[in-house]
Amino acid sequence: MIERPLAPPRPLVDVVVDGTTVAVREGSSVLEACRGAGSDVPTLCYLETLTPVNVCRVCVVEVEGSRPLVPACSRPVEPGMEISTTSERALHSRKLVFELLASSVDLGLVDQQTKGWMEQSGVDAGRFGESARAVEHQVKIQDELYIRDYDKCILCYKCVEACGEDAQNTFAIAISGRGFTAEVSTEFDVVLPESACVYCGNCIGVCPTGALIGRVEYDMRRDGTWDETTQTVTRTICPFCGVGCSLDVHVQENAIVKVTSPTDHSVTSGHLCIKGRFAWQHVHA
Ligand code: SF4
Ligand code: SF4
Ligand code: FES
Repeated sequence: MIERPLAPPRPLVDVVVDGTTVAVREGSSVLEACRGAGSDVPTLCYLETLTPVNVCRVCVVEVEGSRPLVPACSRPVEPGMEISTTSERALHSRKLVFELLASSVDLGLVDQQTKGWMEQSGVDAGRFGESARAVEHQVKIQDELYIRDYDKCILCYKCVEACGEDAQNTFAIAISGRGFTAEVSTEFDVVLPESACVYCGNCIGVCPTGALIGRVEYDMRRDGTWDETTQTVTRTICPFCGVGCSLDVHVQENAIVKVTSPTDHSVTSGHLCIKGRFAWQHVHA
């Protein structure tokens, strides 16, 4: 079969990242330019499969001629742009954002990469004390498939995007409230089984903090039996229909404990339906 390009190639533009000139495609983000130049700019609300919502501000960089710091994930490059990822102001701002988050949200389940960014930034998680915690939430356990623990939520909007037009188009959740009372909610805060949720779990797939996790993982963590060091991950194809989604099956002690999907799948971008993500219990029958 002849492969046809979907769009004409975009011309290259030169930008300078930390003193090094790099060529990137016109319309690329500053983040893509920085990462192309080997600079590991942290992100929290950004995911390559979602539209940037630009809310966490840990990705800020300094751009020559721009008074405010620039969010790298959502700002497109311009020819000749001079970007500094390690200016004192950018590093200070990033550290402060991490410290504000760490003081107000439980970041205990963020991934190793984010922990590394926090360490590199010299974050003092207790800098603003426990009193910065705005609202205490009860873990929402409303079904057998997944739980919502909004004490871990950084309001990154990723779940809202994935439930909405970036993937699922179900619009079961949105941010409700303002300021310190802002939180992710179903319509009128109804329990999940009574909401529009179709249990695709795509919100779990994109959540960076463990605020949303599968029920099996939650129960095992609570019981102290969750052990990623003994888990294997096997890539396979979902057998339920002809779409052919890629599945990463996480197995511990010969039992499936979680199913995820790689974001680089050209059709699904890591999103699944309820069957692919949750309907694996029959394997254990
Ligand atoms: S499981 Fe799917 S439908 Fe339900 S809230 Fe999450 S993304 Fe939306
Ligand atoms: S629940 Fe997770 S994905 Fe959703 S806004 Fe909170 S941290 Fe982000
Ligand atoms: S990653 Fe850029 S604003 Fe959140």
